[in-house]
Amino acid sequence: MELPFAESWKIKMIEPIRKSTRIEREQWLKDAYYNVFQLRAEQVYIDLITDSGTGAMSDSQWASLMIGDESYAGATSFFKMKEAINRITGFEYVLPTHQGRAAENVLFSCLVKEGDYIPGNSHFDTTKGHIESRKAFAVDCTIDEARDTQLELPFKGNVDIQKLEKVLIEHRNEIPFMIITITNNTAGGQPVSMQNMREVHQLAKKYNKPVLFDSARFAENAYFIKVREKGYENKTIKEICREMFSYADAMTMSAKKDAIVNMGGFIATNIQDWYEQAKVKGIIYEGYITYGGMNGRDMNALAVGLDENTEFENLETRIKQVEYLASQLDKFHIPYQRPAGGHAIFIDAPRMLPQVPKEEFPAQTLTVELYLEAGIRGCEIGYILADRDPVTRENRFDVNDFLRLAIPRRTYTNNHMDVIAVALKNVFDRRNDITRGVIIEWEAEIMRHFTVKLKKL
Ligand code: F0G
Repeated sequence: MELPFAESWKIKMIEPIRKSTRIEREQWLKDAYYNVFQLRAEQVYIDLITDSGTGAMSDSQWASLMIGDESYAGATSFFKMKEAINRITGFEYVLPTHQGRAAENVLFSCLVKEGDYIPGNSHFDTTKGHIESRKAFAVDCTIDEARDTQLELPFKGNVDIQKLEKVLIEHRNEIPFMIITITNNTAGGQPVSMQNMREVHQLAKKYNKPVLFDSARFAENAYFIKVREKGYENKTIKEICREMFSYADAMTMSAKKDAIVNMGGFIATNIQDWYEQAKVKGIIYEGYITYGGMNGRDMNALAVGLDENTEFENLETRIKQVEYLASQLDKFHIPYQRPAGGHAIFIDAPRMLPQVPKEEFPAQTLTVELYLEAGIRGCEIGYILADRDPVTRENRFDVNDFLRLAIPRRTYTNNHMDVIAVALKNVFDRRNDITRGVIIEWEAEIMRHFTVKLKKL
């Protein structure tokens, strides 16, 4: 008999978590204005709000913290990190930042100006925020198929090459660069194929435009290329990563995801001019160029994490857990973005709660219901997160309305996945009784989902 699949690690340290009662949760959520970002972490049983900075570091990573070099300038930790990035991505110039959005802020301060157009595949909210706050436009060129949650495609995060070329033709002189987000978080943690990256690269060359990879989950993307794309089955993850990055001119990285650190990020590029410009902004916003908002010890852990998480076994363990949760949801016919993403399951909320009108935010309503049901904290990636259109100030309902269940790396067991699936089933079973959702009482002008105050109807 073939042995079943199991994790490629064992557990050395644990952190207790606590259950609560429904009565407690009702009060806590009311006090939080039905916004799960406003809850205290100890009010949460299983925390799926993000996979960012919430992973469990390995013993090698913890060991590397002890020999961090905290020198202000020229720390050995910086050079260890730089070496790992050079080797894994092929980019020569490396500028540390305290996290991914800081990398965006530094780089976009140099490159994005009012009236610019930046095409890409479902820009992440901070990426869009850094574009729109500079009065530029983020044009989403993701393939249309990504919108249909029930369609099974191996590379649902892809860029639509025709849409991209149209933008390139219409705004030729207003495009400083284009972005490919790997994996495509907003579309459901969906990967981009190597072929698609190659095609974008060719198009970019034709129009003489640089390509930036938003690389938060690049290693998970490489895993999907290995297991789904013809010709890559015998390549190592590190070989696949080198080829992926050969189609880009630069990357911004939130190391809190695929480098499995609690904090950290960087810019890496082969364009010397971008690096020279970014150094100046980096010093103002982040810190000197060999630490940029990071501790020496964190740069050490980042270097080790990058190496570990570009190994097949680690990625396989991680992604198989997400697939395991998906298989449990299938048993209960719960609708989600298919196939399961790399870092998360994205529940299709309007299908799950068909009675809740869009003006009452089905995905946020589902987020609330799941927390009340079992103390599980997901997060809305839908109509609230989409913010208002900067010109018309109308809500943007032309996006998918998802409840995202982000799975932290190496943190929960499959028993926790079982609890999540049954809690969702219980909500799904009473879907016809859930007829009203939530309305907004107060919101910020941009990135409102973090601080929005809601009322439950
Ligand atoms: N790009 C992508 C694709 C992201 O998913 C994130 C963060 C960022 C950039 C920004 O990085 O948080 O280090 O500043 N995503 C987290 C999430 C917050 O929950 O998906 P950051």
